[in-house]
Amino acid sequence: MHKLAFIGFGVVGQGLAEILLEKKKELRNEYGFEYSIVAVSDFKKGSALLAEGLDVAKLLELAGKDEISDYPGAETGLDALQTIEKSGADIIVEVSYTDIETGEPAYSHFKAALESGKHIVTTNKGPTALFFTELQELARSKKAHFRFEGTVLAGTPALNLAELCLAGNEIREIRGIMNGTTNFILTNMEQGKSYEAALKEAQELGYAEAKPDADVEGWDALAKVVILSKSVMGVDVDKKDVDRTGITGITLDDVKKAKADGKRWKLIGRVVKEGGGVKASVGPEMVDLTDPLASVGGATNALTFVTDLLGEVTIVGAGAGKVETGFSLLADLLQIHRVT
Ligand code: HSE
Repeated sequence: MHKLAFIGFGVVGQGLAEILLEKKKELRNEYGFEYSIVAVSDFKKGSALLAEGLDVAKLLELAGKDEISDYPGAETGLDALQTIEKSGADIIVEVSYTDIETGEPAYSHFKAALESGKHIVTTNKGPTALFFTELQELARSKKAHFRFEGTVLAGTPALNLAELCLAGNEIREIRGIMNGTTNFILTNMEQGKSYEAALKEAQELGYAEAKPDADVEGWDALAKVVILSKSVMGVDVDKKDVDRTGITGITLDDVKKAKADGKRWKLIGRVVKEGGGVKASVGPEMVDLTDPLASVGGATNALTFVTDLLGEVTIVGAGAGKVETGFSLLADLLQIHRVT
């Protein structure tokens, strides 16, 4: 029985909780995976700790009203660090908000969890991009697992594909569409919509980061490029060494011209092995329509892995969304379950 504590219980955390509730039987019967959610702490919605396990349906109902602290019989009023310390959980689901500049407060949550030997599953890009090497070493020294599939392409298996299925290949380059909001904007501009109207729609659909710059200036894609470089290629690239340009300089005219030339603008994140290191970049590129990345429209993401044994492998799938990102955490939980 895996004991889970959630740090943060927004859209993604609730997405995982809903999946765990709906698939409880299948997870037990098909994978031998059994769980109990022993604690939740969300800085807006409240906290609850119950050693015998929280009822997930009740928890979701209270979370919907920002009233987790009203959970009957639970210990409440615990912040994230107190929850990690007192919950008795063996796996921390860290899904608090992401800060790509400092990584906090999630960085402190990660360290507290790993130092006490707890496994982490997370979708939190900030601390994963900024402190990957240190966190990975800490996890190893404590024999804990640190898994972060959902930081890149939500539940679409980008990192697990590289780690598990492409093992044995040398991965020479990874390039792709790593940000749904900008792809949605560019696709809509091609259909004649203005940049502003398309951004507004992406915000309403819930893809966009809290600060639009994070998407449109390429910071979100940059975090993903850094995570891919460190975790898949083993090269510790600093975010200031990534060449970064967003999509704000692309006009409707540019989009029309590209279309007339049989091309499409895409915001491409790229990491290429070069001279013992890597060259990493994020920037708009005119992609030829014959490239698999050209046909990926809307908020969908895609990655092409350039490998030595298999040639080019492209995956296309969701890069955001409640269930899609919730699933990434389930994939990580099942992987921990397999190997522990
Ligand atoms: N804002 C991000 C995107 C969410 O648009 O892709 C997923 O990381």
